[in-house]
Formats: sequence, structure tokens, C-alpha cells
Amino acid sequence: MKVLGISGSPRRGSTTDQLVQEVLKGVNCDKEFIPLSGKRIGPCIACLSCVKDNVCVLDDDMRQLRDKIVSADAYVIGAANYYSVLNGLAHCFLERWYQFRHREGKAVAGKLGVAVGVGGAMPDAPAQNIMKFFEYNQIECIGSVTAQGSASCFTCGYGETCRAGAIHMFLGPGTKITPEITPDLSKQPDSIAEARRLGAELTRRGVDISP
Ligand SMILES: Cc1cc2nc3c(=O)[nH]c(=O)nc-3n(C[C@H](O)[C@H](O)[C@H](O)COP(=O)(O)O)c2cc1C
Repeated sequence: MKVLGISGSPRRGSTTDQLVQEVLKGVNCDKEFIPLSGKRIGPCIACLSCVKDNVCVLDDDMRQLRDKIVSADAYVIGAANYYSVLNGLAHCFLERWYQFRHREGKAVAGKLGVAVGVGGAMPDAPAQNIMKFFEYNQIECIGSVTAQGSASCFTCGYGETCRAGAIHMFLGPGTKITPEITPDLSKQPDSIAEARRLGAELTRRGVDISP
């Protein structure tokens, strides 16, 4: 049983990275974490070149990830909320799984999944998107976990005065940015506990389905 954890956030060390890794901490078998930050992965262009052999022909960083996806038995996939949907890099990555679908390809169908969602205010949206993606790909989603991440406005330097940003929008004008009000996964023990529980559950289910 091998579990592949993928964080779709473009920010290295982000809350999505951390929460996917918390799920993996609960996993007690072969596991690997891959952050997509810094990777060059474009969208599916619907060229249909993958129909004949279920292998995408586009030449970018998705090529190195294909074998890891095929050889894994379970997936922990995380993404951040960008404009109420999962962030673009994560979306491109998931679109490219189209290569596995054709002619009843069985590379990912029947495997297990955990969805991880992070948002400045609404972390559920990307988790829901990933769960729908699992459904389309016949991956059995055993659960999801979410956490609040730190909106860029906490660190951009203009957060306290910018009237269009998250600080004014969610906390109100005049709010001072302090470490106490800055979201951090370490302040969300329920999310960490749920992530570990799902990791342990993945291991248990994986043992059940092993030949
Ligand atoms: C372009 C962009 C759009 C965003 N839109 C939303 C949004 O619609 N709702 C929300 O809750 N958070 C939104 N956020 C905040 C992010 O979800 C938040 O910063 C989160 O922590 C990002 O995940 P990460 O820390 O794993 O990178 C947005 C951030 C960016 C950069």
C-alpha cells in the first residue's frame, strides 16, 4: 500500500502543504509527499492524444508525476480556495488526470482518496471540488479535512490600510495585524486531529483492500 500526498498550493510550506502532511503523519505505510509549488503544469488542452494509450503527450512537469500516480494505491490531494474554487495549479494538475479515463482505463479507478481544503475564509470549496473530482475518477473518497490559511493580506504590507483586502473584508477597518489574529494551522487542533484520523483510516482501509 502506497499513499501519495499532493499539495496543489503554489506557496511552498503553505497551510495546504502542512495539512496534507498532517494526513500523511497518520498513515502507517509507504508514503510520499509532493508539493506542486514551483512545478510547471499546464491545463488539459483536450487534444485527445491520450485516448490511444492513456498517456498524456504534453511536455511539462506532469510527466514525472504520472508514474507516481499510477503506482500509488491512495491519494491525499489538497488545494487552496482562490475565488471560491480550487486554485489554478491544482486544477491544471487534476485536469491532466483525463489521460487515465479512456477506454475504461483502470490506473486510478477503485483507489482511495482524502480531500484537503484550505481557504482564507472558506476552506470547504476546494475540498468539495476535489471530492467531485474523486467521484468522476471512481476514486473512493473516505473523507475530507479543512483548515483556515493565512490570506496574503496578512503579509503583503498593506493589509491594515487596503480597503479591498481580506483584513478589512473579514475583520473590519482598523484591525491591527498581530501574530494572535494571523491564521496558522498550529492553532487549529481539530483540523490536525481530523487529518491524522483520516491518515490512520486510509492505512486501515488500504490493509483491508490489499491482496
Ligand atoms: C488569487 C487568490 C484568491 C483567493 N480567493 C479566496 C476566496 O475566494 N475565498 C477564500 O476563503 N480565500 C481566498 N484566498 C485566500 C487563500 O485561500 C488563503 O491565502 C489560503 O491560505 C491559501 O492556501 P495556502 O496557504 O495553502 O497557499 C485567495 C487567495 C488568492 C491568492
